[in-house]
This record gives sequence, C-alpha cells and structure tokens, in this order.
Amino acid sequence: MRVFVAGASGAIGTRLVPQLIEAGHEVIGSHRSPDRAERIRALGAKPVTLDLLDALAVRKAVLEATPDAIVHQATALANVSFSKSLDRTFAQTNRLRTEGTDTLLAAAREAGVRRFVAQSFASYAREGGMIKTEDDPLDPNPLAGTRETNAAMRHLDEVVTAAGGVALRYGGFYGAPNDGLIAPIRKRQFPIIGDGGGVFSFIHLDDAATATVLALEHDGPAIYNIVDDEPAPLREWLLVLATALGAKPPRRFPRWLARLVAGEAAVVTATESHAASNAKAKRELSWTPRYPSWRQGFLAAYASITIGDRPRTRPAAIT
Ligand SMILES: NC(=O)c1ccc[n+]([C@@H]2O[C@H](COP(=O)([O-])OP(=O)(O)OC[C@H]3O[C@@H](n4cnc5c(N)ncnc54)[C@H](OP(=O)(O)O)[C@@H]3O)[C@@H](O)[C@H]2O)c1
Repeated sequence: MRVFVAGASGAIGTRLVPQLIEAGHEVIGSHRSPDRAERIRALGAKPVTLDLLDALAVRKAVLEATPDAIVHQATALANVSFSKSLDRTFAQTNRLRTEGTDTLLAAAREAGVRRFVAQSFASYAREGGMIKTEDDPLDPNPLAGTRETNAAMRHLDEVVTAAGGVALRYGGFYGAPNDGLIAPIRKRQFPIIGDGGGVFSFIHLDDAATATVLALEHDGPAIYNIVDDEPAPLREWLLVLATALGAKPPRRFPRWLARLVAGEAAVVTATESHAASNAKAKRELSWTPRYPSWRQGFLAAYASITIGDRPRTRPAAIT
C-alpha cells in the first residue's frame, strides 16, 4: 500500500516508517519542521512538510500523495513544559486530535483512501475494574484542567471509527533517549504520591509501531488498546524505572503536598488511574509485543543510553 504517515518524524513515526517499509509498503511521511525532511528520507520514506492545522495544505498534500492508507501520528508534545493544567500543556495536541483529524479525514474521503488509523490514548474511567477493555467507558468525569484533553481524545475515537477507521489507544510510550519521564525521574522530580496506587499501562515504541502496521491490514471500524501485558501501580513501575535510569529512588509525597506542588490532576492520576487490557489487539491483530512487560522493556531501553550519566557510587569498603 501507499501509506501517508502524518507525524512521521516524531517518537512513534520514526519507529513506524521503517517497519512499514519492511512490511512492503511505500511511505510518504509528513513533518512540520523543515529540517526534519532528511531524517524521514533516511528512514526510506518520501518527506512532505505539512501543518495539519492548515486545511488547504492537508488537502493538497493528500490528493498529491494518492495514498491507499493514512496513519495520523501527529502530536505536539516535544519540549512542552507540564503545568498544573494538562489542557494548557496539550492545547496544540488537542487541536491536532480534533481539527487535524477532521481535516485529514475530509482529505482522505476526497482522495478515496481505504484505510485510516489514528493515535489515541488509553484514558479510561477511574471506577469499576482496574483493567479496562475497549468497551469500557472513557473517563466520564475528567478533572478540571483535563477536560479539553479528554474531549479531544473522545472526538478522535468517535470521528475515526464513524469513518470506518481504527483508533489505537496506546499506553504510555517509552523506549527513546528523550522520553519525557527520563529527566524528571533523574532529578527526583517525579515522586510516588500517596500510596502510588494508580495503575498505568505502558508500551515500548517499537511494539506500538508493530501493532500500528498490523492495524493497517485490518478492516475498521475498530478501537484497540495497544499496551503491554502488565498494568502496574505507580509505586512499582516508578522504582524499576528509576533503577533502570541509574537514578536515586523517587521521593514520597503525601497527597496534600503533591496537590500544592503539582495540582489535583497529578494526585488523582498517581493514585486512581485505571489501566487497559491488550487482549483484543492480541486476538484480532495477531500482535505479540516484543516487550510484554515494562520490567524488561525499561531495562532494554535505557541500559545503553544512560550508562554514562549514572550517578557515581563509592566503591564498597574492602574489609
Ligand atoms: N502515548 C504516549 O505516551 C505519548 C503520545 C504522544 C507523544 N508522547 C511523547 O511525547 C514526546 C514528544 O513526542 P514526539 O517526539 O512524537 O514529538 P511531537 O512534537 O509530539 O511530534 C510528533 C509528530 O507530529 C508532528 N507535528 C507536530 N505539530 C504538527 C503540526 N501542527 N502539523 C503536522 N504535524 C505536526 C511532528 O513534526 P516535527 O517533527 O516536524 O515537529 C512529528 O512528526 C515523546 O517523548 C513521546 O514519547 C507520548
């Protein structure tokens, strides 16, 4: 197939393009920053500079590319600074998930594109069973400061499936040297809050890309959770991740202190999050994650890239 990847130069896009080419597809990869073209070309795709929020440019790019399939992986999360309001941090990404998705879908319709796969996130209700399937409701009562972000993900899921496409609700990405969690954990700025009982789902970027290639072969409409096999509470994975990064153990903050420093949404996320099941994706896409658990994945991802930065420890005294 001719596959148009919107956001080919990002964290997942750069993993996805080589896997698509390996699977025999021809890839046109979009990027927004002009200096990313060479990177995309080096991955084996034809680069195209595109702002997804420019509807005319999107229409032109898609009609010129004449793709069989479109994969929407554009987000604007590089170099953002996280504030107490997730909606502020995600403002541009929310536009890419709403306006950007609508614009790409309109162009896809006009160009007669057969397959449409888009990036969503596994953000489920914080009540009921801890591990959610695709049939469980998304968070019906998002906290203040997260409502626009939740609404944008809901919008993407709805319009993509209404158009016969596939929405992939990924877990938390990891596996790149610039993963967002690395710096705060090294600086001990990512504490265990309260009992750290919020349960999270992760996915290695390579596994997310593999599932995306398989989803392209699948008839929609459909929604899949693309997460690993081991949902885990914050208090467990954060310790393992700090060790994998050679960082000191995370601090522990009571809820009231975390609320003052990071806000209510951070407290609720750390203590009440629910995670997702990958059973449907494994069954229907015949997908098997190479890193079934973040336990192996964190070590594999960070062993080589962090070694030079590990804190020096004193040699044990000789007795
Ligand atoms: N599920 C998750 O946990 C999740 C999901 C998304 C991102 N993240 C994390 O967020 C961090 C940053 O993500 P990222 O590296 O993928 O960077 P990013 O800035 O989010 O970029 C993603 C892609 O979207 C493109 N893009 C950005 N704005 C655009 C626009 N207005 N129109 C069209 N395309 C646009 C980028 O192009 P340029 O490269 O040219 O800017 C890039 O190709 C990474 O650590 C990633 O793992 C996590």
